[in-house]
Amino acid sequence: MKEKILEVKDLTTRFYMVDREVTAVDSLSFSLCSHEILAIIGESGSGKSVTNLSIMKLIDEPGKVLPESQILLKSGDHYIDLNKLSEKEMEMIRGNRISMIFQEPSASFNPLFRLGGQVGESLRLHGKGSKEDAYKAALELLEQVHIPNSKMRAQDYPFQMSGGMLQRMMIAQALACHPDILIADEPTTALDVTTQAQILGLLKEKQKETGMSIIFITHDLALVEDFCDRIIILYAGSLMEEGPARDVISNPMHPYTKDLLRSIPKPGMFKGQDTLFAIPGKVPDPGQIIQGCPYAKRCRFCTAECMESKPLIIEKNGRKVRCFHAYS
Ligand SMILES: Nc1ncnc2c1ncn2[C@@H]1O[C@H](COP(=O)(O)OP(=O)(O)OP(=O)(O)O)[C@@H](O)[C@H]1O
Ligand code: SF4
Ligand SMILES: [Mg+2]
Repeated sequence: MKEKILEVKDLTTRFYMVDREVTAVDSLSFSLCSHEILAIIGESGSGKSVTNLSIMKLIDEPGKVLPESQILLKSGDHYIDLNKLSEKEMEMIRGNRISMIFQEPSASFNPLFRLGGQVGESLRLHGKGSKEDAYKAALELLEQVHIPNSKMRAQDYPFQMSGGMLQRMMIAQALACHPDILIADEPTTALDVTTQAQILGLLKEKQKETGMSIIFITHDLALVEDFCDRIIILYAGSLMEEGPARDVISNPMHPYTKDLLRSIPKPGMFKGQDTLFAIPGKVPDPGQIIQGCPYAKRCRFCTAECMESKPLIIEKNGRKVRCFHAYS
């Protein structure tokens, strides 16, 4: 069995607003193995970003990661709980052992500085070299992420790059310190389909070369089958289903996963009678107290039992599913 590099146990993140409380992530447990690509999938507002910001300890007031949550990172022959680390200790982890990339690469770069200096900056921040060493490493990194004319492009400012090229720059920046874990939060959502495929190919190539693990966040189930090893489906902050990517896609067990798969357009479908399926209703309002199954109001298979209490996760044959009727 593969070694677990990260183990998240009972992660609960809540926002305490003046008029209500929003539980964005609700007792979420999952693990990430070394060399693994794990996808976290869910509609907008399901808690994907908050999960990862919680791991990075980047949740600001009025949000709070509850103290009983455990975020265990393998460190040598033991695990450290990131939820117990001070801000100073976390600064040694961020960009070093765990890096993040985002949908909007401009968020990672200062528009006023040339890209070459910014790509290798984390090496300097983590005491892994001088300014000159960092710049040299940045040029190598730009080569590695296949930036053409990398020496010249290192002189450019962020606004001079196309979206896809800036995305490559951001990946180079995230890889600078050879992180064990890369968190990619919808990194391809803003890109055209061809560039999206190139960026996914690049991430996979780097994952194979470096052996790092990746948490890949997306709302697009169609993207992940060939790219990821395992999938977690989130809904309203709760884990609904988890399993190997191929199994979940070829044999979804949770009604929500089934509905997400039915919502994916298929080539040629509009030539016949078919129309694209849309999941009825909408995600629960943040802050709404849900008594039964979070998916009950949209679920085709809902029964009285589903309205009364929240189903527990059933774990069987390497799959996890939170549904009263998954096996009936
Ligand atoms: N700073 C905040 N203050 C209050 N509520 C917040 C805050 N940040 C997130 N939330 C709430 O937490 C929930 C989860 O948000 P999150 O950003 O994790 O969703 P997501 O799954 O990443 O969605 P998207 O696909 O749109 O990025 C949402 O209901 C959101 O309203
Ligand atoms: S528990 Fe009930 S409402 Fe929830 S997903 Fe399963 S069948 Fe649907
Ligand atoms: Mg998000």
